[in-house]
Amino acid sequence: MSEAHKITLIPGDGIGPEVSSAVVSILEAAGKKTGCSFDWHRYDAGADAFAKTGEYIPKALYESIEQNRVALKGPVTTPIGGGFSSINVTLRKKFDLFSNFRPVKSLPGLKTNYPNIDLIIFRENTEDLYAGLEVMVQPDVAQSLKIITRKGSTRIAKAAFDYAKKHGRKKIHAIHKANIMKLSDGLFLKCCQEVAAGFPEVTYAEHIVDNTCMQLVLNPYQYDIILTENLYGDILSDLCSAFVGGLGLVPGANIGLECAIFEAVHGSAPDIAGQDKANPTALLQSAVLMLHHIDEPATAEKVQTALETVYAEGKTLTKDVGGNSGTKAFADAVIAAIG
Ligand code: NAI
Repeated sequence: MSEAHKITLIPGDGIGPEVSSAVVSILEAAGKKTGCSFDWHRYDAGADAFAKTGEYIPKALYESIEQNRVALKGPVTTPIGGGFSSINVTLRKKFDLFSNFRPVKSLPGLKTNYPNIDLIIFRENTEDLYAGLEVMVQPDVAQSLKIITRKGSTRIAKAAFDYAKKHGRKKIHAIHKANIMKLSDGLFLKCCQEVAAGFPEVTYAEHIVDNTCMQLVLNPYQYDIILTENLYGDILSDLCSAFVGGLGLVPGANIGLECAIFEAVHGSAPDIAGQDKANPTALLQSAVLMLHHIDEPATAEKVQTALETVYAEGKTLTKDVGGNSGTKAFADAVIAAIG
């Protein structure tokens, strides 16, 4: 057996600990078959971490990600309208994880209104309105700064086009609102156009974000790769997740030049937390992306095949996708299906 992969594990809160524990057990089981082992370095973040350490993101967690360069993260609750800054946004900015990669793909056997979906969202992950630069300019006037840079726009466009070329994807749509935000979204588009010019084999198109929402609902099949800024990417990800069965399914990867953090698109789902109802598929598919990233394709393949077997059989699914099983029973079914 080769040396264990050191991976920083942030279980998160809400449904985070339930889905993380399911995913860890599935990865451990698959790894036993392929000779791949894991050394999990576990850390709290957010309100739980603050209660224990007085820090929302403990220094030791930062150091662990710096050393291991790979993290698997469950969702963390962010207070609305006040309180501490988003842990997710803070980590993405701290480690300059500029590329948020979100594949939205139908699973076998799952009946939805949109069969055979296969599209990818590349979301810029460090700037835009998520730069968190907000001030009260007068007692009744708040200002939030939208930051769009040539560097940020060019590198996410490059990531999307490089991926398309490597994986034979045919079309990229840059999604924007440059008719209104002529300077910021205008710069984003300019950078996308410049990068597109270097990839004649990939068709490049541009859609305005509001029209995109309608186009997606009417005919998502017209999109192959969606390339967009931070806020539009966040919103379109949730919209697209509905095509394949909802937020319980869609994975994500936050990739930078030094480190990568793998996490689902969904949040901490407080409405179902602690009830053994959460679907761990989204985090599991994020973990599959992680296995490819750490060069464990055989283990990734084993996990994905077992997951698809369970969906194709349709006997042990969670409630969000029409089943009657709990998180643990679903995880056990995936483990049993590992060949
Ligand atoms: P959410 O994604 O947590 O939940 C939206 C809906 O989807 C809920 O009805 C929930 O039950 C359902 N859902 C989500 N994941 C599911 C799963 N795995 N299985 C079954 N059903 C699932 O979004 P919401 O409610 O807007 O946010 C809750 C909290 O999560 C907020 O504090 C938010 O800031 C945080 N959040 C954290 C993220 C992260 O850590 N990466 C990302 C998005 C939100």
